[in-house]
Amino acid sequence: MVNITFDYGRCVKCGRCVGICPSGHLRMTDGGPLAEPGRCMLCLHCAAACPQDAVRIDGARATVPEPMDTLEAAVMSRRSVRRYQDRAPDRLTLQWALDRAAYAPSGGNRRPTRWSVALGRPQMAAIKDAALQYCRESGYAPDLLAAVDRGRDPLTCGAPAMILGWEPEGALNPGTDTVIALTTAELLLTERGLGTCWAGYMRRIVERCAALRQMLGIPEEGVPVGCLLVGIPSADFPNIPVRPAAQVFWLEE
Ligand SMILES: Cc1cc2nc3c(=O)[nH]c(=O)nc-3n(C[C@H](O)[C@H](O)[C@H](O)COP(=O)(O)O)c2cc1C
Repeated sequence: MVNITFDYGRCVKCGRCVGICPSGHLRMTDGGPLAEPGRCMLCLHCAAACPQDAVRIDGARATVPEPMDTLEAAVMSRRSVRRYQDRAPDRLTLQWALDRAAYAPSGGNRRPTRWSVALGRPQMAAIKDAALQYCRESGYAPDLLAAVDRGRDPLTCGAPAMILGWEPEGALNPGTDTVIALTTAELLLTERGLGTCWAGYMRRIVERCAALRQMLGIPEEGVPVGCLLVGIPSADFPNIPVRPAAQVFWLEE
């Protein structure tokens, strides 16, 4: 367990950390933000979003101080975006990223990934409705329904677009090629100023729900591998939070 605290000498009580926390783990008090016990998944959105760099993890600054080269910066400054502007992203930009994702490695260069894209608020609303209806009727994902009833939206995060990568059944490396392609597309989209968030709930529901598969043009034998919400971010992340060092077993001389 780590201890998230705030440097109240720097904090201006703007509330960005409280608003951006995907777990609802923080609350604002008269004295400034406070972390509730439990629930934190250590994504450090609070530290990334704080304009005053006032978040502390176990007493230490939670952000990376050094400038980096462009690829390193792109990797480290990518965040799961859960707040989007109303305007949908441009179709050409999405097509560009998916075309470029064909340059990602794939087993046997088979490039098995097929894409389904929902683009626009009405399209996303229809998908969200169908997904929630499926959950209500089938009893699937009661935690998601509970979150929706509390006014949260971990399903679509209010995104105006969504890219789903799927594969025909029987791929050589099931899932792997498509995750690599999606990750490649995600970084390209981020580099073009778009925000993304992987949508695990959505993928799992599409996998099960025939109506959604039909809406998204996925045949019965298609396997949904990964889903990415996409849009123009409405909040920025001025800081890069610290992540723990890789845990590696080295076998070497
Ligand atoms: C496979 C996968 C599924 C995810 N599903 C969801 C989801 O359904 N809803 C959501 O809000 N975030 C989802 N996320 C985002 C993670 O919560 C996020 O990556 C994590 O908190 C770390 O934050 P960061 O991406 O900003 O570094 C998912 C991430 C991955 C890789």
